[in-house]
Parts: sequence; C-alpha cells; structure tokens
Amino acid sequence: MRPLPRSSAGSSPSDHGAEAGEASKVGAHLVGRHGEVGECEFTMFGRQWHLLPEVFAPAHTDSTQLFTRWLPFPVGGTFLEMGCGAGVTAVTAALEGCARVTAADINPQAVRNTRLNAARHGVADRVEAVRSDLFDALDPGARFDVVFWNSNVVHAPADFAYTRGLEHAVFDRDYAAHRRYVRDGLARLSGSGRLFLGFNSLGDTARLDAAVAQAGARITEHATLTNRASDVPVAFRLMEITR
Ligand SMILES: C[S@@+](CC[C@H](N)C(=O)[O-])C[C@H]1O[C@@H](n2cnc3c(N)ncnc32)[C@H](O)[C@@H]1O
Repeated sequence: MRPLPRSSAGSSPSDHGAEAGEASKVGAHLVGRHGEVGECEFTMFGRQWHLLPEVFAPAHTDSTQLFTRWLPFPVGGTFLEMGCGAGVTAVTAALEGCARVTAADINPQAVRNTRLNAARHGVADRVEAVRSDLFDALDPGARFDVVFWNSNVVHAPADFAYTRGLEHAVFDRDYAAHRRYVRDGLARLSGSGRLFLGFNSLGDTARLDAAVAQAGARITEHATLTNRASDVPVAFRLMEITR
C-alpha cells in the first residue's frame, strides 16, 4: 500500500494534523492486521461465521459486535446494511425479525462472504447481498426503515489510491463516501425511517460534522463505549442522523 503522509489534515477543517496522522498510521496498521487473518471461522453472538480473505474481520475490533447490539432493528420492516463485510449485522437483523434485509458492499469478496453467512444461518431468502458503491446499484425506488453503515472512518487524502479490497474497510478518500452516505442515506428512508452511522474516534469528526451540515441534517449520539482496538483506546459511537 502506498504509505499515507504523516498528517493528512494540513488543510483539514478540523485542524488536527497530529491526530489525523496518528489515525492514518493506525488505519494502515488495521489494514495489515485484518489482511493477515485469511480464510477462517469465528464465533460471535454464539454463532459460527465464515470469514473470507480481504474482508474486514469482525473479531479483530469491537465495532461489529457493539453496533449490532445497539442497533434498533425494525422487526417486520426493511433494513439496509451499507458496507456489510462478512455480513454479521445483516444476518443478525434477519434472524431478529427484519422482513427484508439488503446488504451492500463495494468489495465483491464481502458480498460473497455475506451470502455464505446468510445461507449458513438459514436467512438467504431474506438477505439480498449486492455489490454496490454506496447506494449506486440499489433499486432507485427502494426505501428502508433503518439504514446503517459501520463506516471506513479514517480520512485519506484526495490522491490516495486503493490497492486492495480491505483498504475500503478503513480509509475514506477525501471523506467523499461519508458526504454521499449522509446525503443519499436520508433520501433512502421510509416515512418513519432512521439513518445510523457506526463511527469511532479514529474518524474525522470535523469532516463528518461538515457533511451533516451540508446535508442540512443533525447528528446525535445513540450509544457509545470506549475500548481497545489495534492496541489503542478507541471510542465507538453509534450516531443517528436526522433532518
Ligand atoms: C468497517 S468495515 C465494516 C464491515 C462490517 N459491516 C462489520 O461491521 O463487520 C466497512 C465496510 O464498508 C465497505 N465500504 C467502504 N466503502 C464503501 C462504499 N463506497 N460502498 C459500499 N461499501 C463500502 C468496506 O468494504 C467494508 O466492508
């Protein structure tokens, strides 16, 4: 992977170059650690899951588990998991009673992984896994009761080149995906629909706040917990975005 500059936030609205440089280093470390895992099985929520190479490893940080526990799944309704990875949250949503689950990821290996885990847990009829750059490949008319993304929080500069699938799980180039998620996610909600973002302290809060303000929206904290990830303390935050 092309090394990220020590500080990626020279012209950042957040003006916190040191922290951004630190987040970039931790991000590169995370890509390396998740990349070492390879094909394997892991246990989460008392269930066995398949993990394919180049897919974000849920057992390596607490984010997947915490956000899945905190999310208000719409029982009998529709749930969209953006960036489904191995599919733990999407499959759990179906097992907890969502009538229809859409699981999207830009990484084709993650889409395959989610299909494997949906079949393994008997919910392939209710979980549709789609390769999509955010909402691009989804039915334009589709609306959801809950939309959620455990996002790639680490800011990467505008000239960052993705060289492997796993980098999409960690780095957001120019924070463009966060801007699109906030804007387009709000437009994808059903009448009483809710938009969530799984964020953490490696992310660029100032850029996120700017994206939310640009969309004319507000952001509030639904739940939070500080724990260790990749040997550094990380605050995991489930955020809700509203108009
Ligand atoms: C932090 S990982 C979370 C994976 C999984 N949801 C979990 O919690 O274990 C972020 C996921 O978002 C996906 N992703 C990144 N950019 C995306 C985009 N533009 N469109 C769709 N998915 C994207 C990544 O490939 C990755 O699977």
